[in-house]
Amino acid sequence: MDLSRAVQHLHSGGLVAFPTETVYGLGGDATSAAAVQRIFEMKGRPTDHPLIVHLAETKQISHWAVNLPPALWSLAEAFWPGPLTVILSAREDINRTVTGGLPTIALRVPSHPVASELLHAFGKGIAAPSANRFGRVSPTQAQHVRDEFAGIDASELMILDGGSCQVGLESTIIDLSRSRPALLRPGAITREMLQEVLGTSPADPDEHSPQVSGSLPSHYAPQAGVRIFRANEQSQMRAALAEAAERGHKIAVISADGDGVLEPAIWLAAPADATFFAQTIYALMRQGDELAADSIFVVPPDELGIGEAIWDRLRKAAAPRQ
Ligand code: TXA
Ligand code: MG
Repeated sequence: MDLSRAVQHLHSGGLVAFPTETVYGLGGDATSAAAVQRIFEMKGRPTDHPLIVHLAETKQISHWAVNLPPALWSLAEAFWPGPLTVILSAREDINRTVTGGLPTIALRVPSHPVASELLHAFGKGIAAPSANRFGRVSPTQAQHVRDEFAGIDASELMILDGGSCQVGLESTIIDLSRSRPALLRPGAITREMLQEVLGTSPADPDEHSPQVSGSLPSHYAPQAGVRIFRANEQSQMRAALAEAAERGHKIAVISADGDGVLEPAIWLAAPADATFFAQTIYALMRQGDELAADSIFVVPPDELGIGEAIWDRLRKAAAPRQ
């Protein structure tokens, strides 16, 4: 069976891409510096950009972190297993390759049944960034992972296929290593949900917050340029489409409403509901790339609830590229 082969592969230092409820992860034994090193290499990610360690159960936290604040237990009780990552003070004795040299560590207990079975069967933490090349759109289907790592042999990277990811955007990250919890990356566990459990709204990152890859201005980007339009900016979008057509630029439009999409632009129909929009946005951006679009225009839902995470990722995709 694939799962026991995957566990063996992890024990021998190999990498396994696996589905989580958010996006697919590129997993390796978090206690093995060599396996973690291989993750950085395969992704093309700078080694000072820390990884999330995935755990089977909340109680394994003490193997990785110290000075656990009371807020951790309330958040774990409310949202684990699920799409929330917490940043805590790392134990002195853990391998610092996984934290990118930081004194803190990112931990998460995922809910996807395949991720959960893999973690329980492996028994140790699995370090896993999203299973894409550095800076690119996260994979939400096994095929996306195969496309990202097309040149890599199956003996090196095993891919577990668990269908399409339910959330579609990376986990919410909350920093609990400082006096006031700070929301480092919005996600399906929304600001409002966190506030309800914490009894106070999480702070925004400040100059003392860790600078992490997901918080770089340009990230989560398809090959094509990205432009965002609000639902009430149809006339601006029409003008931009007309201008692009004149210049011979190929445009793909991701929106729920096809009315504003003028030929020759290609309409990639997106769900109107924000939760379903989040689920499909990365797959649609990949489709835009497959069509060899010069630009992808996106009309996202309002910036409420999970809309905050959608806008966060789209702004990063639309930011000037380094
Ligand atoms: O949903 C997810 O979180 C997915 C799935 C696979 O679990 N993983 C994911 O990993 O998105 P990655 O590496 O693409 O993003 C992890 C983010 C990065 O922005 C990283 O810099 C940040 O977590 N991070 C990791 N450790 C950290 C730390 N000690 N302090 C602050 N940020 C940290
Ligand atoms: Mg990533």
